[in-house]
Order: sequence, then C-alpha cells, then structure tokens
Amino acid sequence: MAPLTSALQAIRYTRGRGLQLLDQRKLPLEVVYIEIQDATAGWQAIKDMVVRGAPAIAIAAALSLAVEVETLKSAAAGNSQEAVSFLQNRLDYLVSSRPTAVNLADAARTLLDVARKTAIQNDSATSVYEAYLEAAESMLAADVASNKAIGAYGADALYNNVSPLANSHQGVRVLTHCNTGSLATSAYGTALGVIRALHSRGKLETAFCTETRPYNQGSRLTAFELVHDKIPAVLVADSAAAALMSLGRVDAVVVGADRIAANGDTANKIGTYSLALSAHHHGIPFYVAAPLTSVDTAIQSGDEIVIEERSPQELTHSHGGQGTQIAATGVDVWNPAFDVTPAHLITAIITDQGLITKDHNADAFDVLSHIGNS
Ligand code: MRU
Repeated sequence: MAPLTSALQAIRYTRGRGLQLLDQRKLPLEVVYIEIQDATAGWQAIKDMVVRGAPAIAIAAALSLAVEVETLKSAAAGNSQEAVSFLQNRLDYLVSSRPTAVNLADAARTLLDVARKTAIQNDSATSVYEAYLEAAESMLAADVASNKAIGAYGADALYNNVSPLANSHQGVRVLTHCNTGSLATSAYGTALGVIRALHSRGKLETAFCTETRPYNQGSRLTAFELVHDKIPAVLVADSAAAALMSLGRVDAVVVGADRIAANGDTANKIGTYSLALSAHHHGIPFYVAAPLTSVDTAIQSGDEIVIEERSPQELTHSHGGQGTQIAATGVDVWNPAFDVTPAHLITAIITDQGLITKDHNADAFDVLSHIGNS
C-alpha cells in the first residue's frame, strides 16, 4: 500500500511515464494506484468505479487513450485519415462506459475535432496523434483552473447571499452530497471546491457531507478529503438531511452536476433531488456547481437525460457491492445512479464563467445565453 501523499490525486499522468489511477474503491482504508495502459483498461476502470465523478471520468478516459496513442505514435505508418478513424473508434468506445455525465462525451467531441482539424492540414498519422496527445494533456491543467474559478465564484455567492443568516455564527454551514472534490476532478473540485474556497477565506463554519447511499461516495470519499484537508466537517446519513435543515443548522446546499439541460434541470448523484426538495421546503438556497462544459446544449430539459442504472449488488451488499450481503436474498432492486433536480428548485448555477441566476420563483434558467459569452 502506498503512503498517503500530501495532495489527493485521483489521476497521475506524465508523458512517457504513463497513467495511474487512484483506486477509489479501496478508499478510505487503502491508497493504491492502478497502472492504465490503454483505452480498454481505461473503459474498465471507469465502468468499475476505480475512477468516478464527471470531470475525472472524462480526463481519465482521454489520458487512457493518450497512453495508447503514445505507444502507437512512434511506429505510426498510416495516413492522417486512418489515425482519425482509429481515434474516433476508441473515443466512441470510451464514451460507452458511463452514460449520464456529459463531460466524457464533450471531451471526446473536442478531442476528435482537434484530430480532424490536424488531419486537414497534415497528412501524417504521427501529427494527428501528437495533436491528440497535446489536447488530452491540456485537459488536466484546464480542469484545475476551471475548478478554482468555480470555487471563487461560489464562495462569493454563498457568503454574500447567506451571510445575513450566518451572522450568529462564524461562517457558512454548507451541506454537500456525493463526492465532487479532488477525487472527482483533476484537483480541488467543484462543489467541494466552493467549500474549500470558503474555508481558505475563513468563511466556512462546517461542511456537512451526506453518506450518499448506496455507493457511499460521501462517507468513503468526501469525508476522507475533508479530514485529509482539515476542513471542519460532519458526516450525516442521507435520511438525516431534512431533520438537520429543520433545526436551522444548514445555510446552503451545494452539489455538483453530471449533466445540465438548457433550462437548468440538473442530473446529479441519486438523492440530490430529495435534498433540493428539503432545501426548498425549509427556504434554504440550493446551488449547483459545475463547469459550463457540464451543460448539454443539445437538450432542452432534464427529461432527455439518460439515467444510468447500476448493479443491484450495490444495494444488496455492503461497501458498494464489494462487501457482505445485507439485503434479503431474492429481493428485486432498482438502483439508479443519478436523478434529475428540476430547475425551479435550484437557486443558481455556479460555473467557471460566473453565476447563472434566474428570476426569483422562475421555473427555468436560460443557460444557453451564457454559453456564447464564455
Ligand atoms: O457515480 P459517480 O460517483 O461518478 O457520481 C458522481 C457525482 O454524481 C458527482 O456529484 C458529479 O459527477 C459531479 S463531480 C464534480
């Protein structure tokens, strides 16, 4: 088992030295990195939850193919069109690993565009592969910058909107769901990035993190990150969230997003919708934090989002399905990994380009009007 390093890193990549993914299935008890040699291993690691979280999935997929391409590049004999077809094939395959998060499909589209444009200007396969490598590698750095921007915009929004409520205590008390931190991104995080930014400004009193059943990304991963980074935190059962809100102990809820429709409807980890309903009932602001690339410009509302259903074993057995049986043998199971929170329950969307708001009590956001501005 590797020792705990000072910074949590889900994805380790250096050109020529390969790609290693932190096996998140083993956290918080073991820190083990898995070597990924090609897109096939990348697909499997995403499917099996070695790496998870919308931005991390996209970057891990892109880099798993980068490792394969790096090996091919030196011996590449074909022309540029053959290289584009090969990349398209492998990217389509990677996109099939998990359907709900838009980031992976969006990254694949961007990378394929780069390959196609290079092929128009240059006829060697090597130049297409080199362009792919550079574009995939730049995604790591771009994601960190995007998360830091989300953190800063989010900390401003939360502190400014919530501070009147927070006057009687030291800072904002934020509840979050699932894992949206360093482990779900290249670093820093989206919703957890907002919490990090509040903490670093001395404006966070407590981060409440839900267990996030059935896979427990909250207790296994978010609690681990919060303890690791010495951020004041309290773990609660998902079913305790409404009671916590009713006691006046939550100033704001901040969650991530896997896919945002043009009207602001947001797919995120199962249980997000229940939290939004509870927050609405208690008059607590409910924020979604995500890069603008989490918006699927092709869909008008959340009805069009495909929700991934995962193995019954995640419910019938402990530890995300890897542990002992805890449910009656033979019971039928419905295990959607995500749900859709309707836009009318969302106060604002915190993006890397700024805050997207809507009129008070409006049913929808005009998200597309922000896309052209970025
Ligand atoms: O099934 P997972 O663990 O990949 O789900 C992750 C989530 O739902 C996150 O909240 C979402 O991807 C946003 S991550 C910054």
